[in-house]
Amino acid sequence: MSSKKEPVVSYLRPLLDEIRGELAFKYIAIARQLMEKGYDVISFGAGQPDIPTPDHIIEAAKRSLDRRFTGYTETAGIYKLREAIAEYLNNRYHASVDPDEIIVTTGAKTAIFVVIASYITPGDEVIVIDPAYPAYSEATKLLGGIPKFLPLKFDKKEGFTIDLDKLEKMISSRTKIIVLNNPHNPTGAVFPPKIVDELMRIAERHNVILLSDEIYDNFIYDNAPFKSVSEYPDWKKRAILINGFSKTFSMTGWRLGYIVAHKEAIERMIRVAVNVYSCATSFAQEAAVEALRGDWTPSKRMIQLFQRRRDVIYEELSKVKGFETWKPQGAFYIYPRVRELLNKLNMSVEEFVDYLIDKQRVIILPGTAFSEVSGEDFVRLSYSISEERIKEGIARIREAIEELETIKLRR
Ligand SMILES: Cc1ncc(COP(=O)(O)O)c(C=O)c1O
Repeated sequence: MSSKKEPVVSYLRPLLDEIRGELAFKYIAIARQLMEKGYDVISFGAGQPDIPTPDHIIEAAKRSLDRRFTGYTETAGIYKLREAIAEYLNNRYHASVDPDEIIVTTGAKTAIFVVIASYITPGDEVIVIDPAYPAYSEATKLLGGIPKFLPLKFDKKEGFTIDLDKLEKMISSRTKIIVLNNPHNPTGAVFPPKIVDELMRIAERHNVILLSDEIYDNFIYDNAPFKSVSEYPDWKKRAILINGFSKTFSMTGWRLGYIVAHKEAIERMIRVAVNVYSCATSFAQEAAVEALRGDWTPSKRMIQLFQRRRDVIYEELSKVKGFETWKPQGAFYIYPRVRELLNKLNMSVEEFVDYLIDKQRVIILPGTAFSEVSGEDFVRLSYSISEERIKEGIARIREAIEELETIKLRR
């Protein structure tokens, strides 16, 4: 065999080596492998609710399949679903949205890709508040754009805050988009309305787009004030909204999200959408109409359950030495700072995470999965598991830290 690399390998864009995968998926695979070997794994890694999709939504999909609703649909999504989405946004946020201002996508992730691909030409800049869900920066890179990271400030009392002065200074003539994700993955922060007001003002002042990913808009606790970009008059002039069904209705595997934007923008973005995925799955779309228009009780119950779990995980983590934990008010993640602990143990965050898997069969994610800037200092835990398992998992983390401290003392 010749040592020359085949074109299928050698022609790959060198850029691909710089693209981060989504580490969460790697850890989901590790958890599954360990469980298959019979280990009692506690995973705080999942970015999805552990509660199954509600029955009435599944029944709607079955009815759709029975009717053989299995062909392509229009790229923007079936009209009835776009109507139901508009109804949801108009009832909840007075968003003034029409069905022809919506594209249904194969998950919010595809929505992110379609938007970035529709606006970014090589050299354009996208400001990403860091840490972040990785798709914003990685889609930007794939398309030749440049992500610019604005680190969130962290204070144990105040939590995670956006430095608006710094953000404004980062805007250049090449900046096209500022990405806001609210409620926020991975920190669980709900950025207050006055911050969203300011971001809208900054977008206007500098003529940039505010891309707002609000996929966790139903996971808000303690009545924390939340403002959607779709609440502003004329918001479609400078903002684009992304949302989806994965989290609110526990429909991650159904792959359904959506983009809401100015009608003319939607008409052009459809050209990207049709060339990437043609349309979202037909029967999943019909089921999504039922999700929005049917009984919300299961979703509401699930969110109440998550609020109780949030209380438990916060209380338990607050007892862990070396974890600086702030109580989040949204999504289903908690993002403690572990810098001092890691310094003391002389470990990187990845080594710490690997140690927990090896010794305690507990999976948490390193902050580096969400950040190129400050990830070394943090870990993310998803509380998408029962209260008992949360308690057991955190007890194991405490045990691991005690072990590590003893090992260090012996050295
Ligand atoms: C902030 C954020 N946006 C988008 C997504 C993608 O969701 P979907 O499953 O709809 O692609 C996720 C999933 O974890 C997320 O956390």
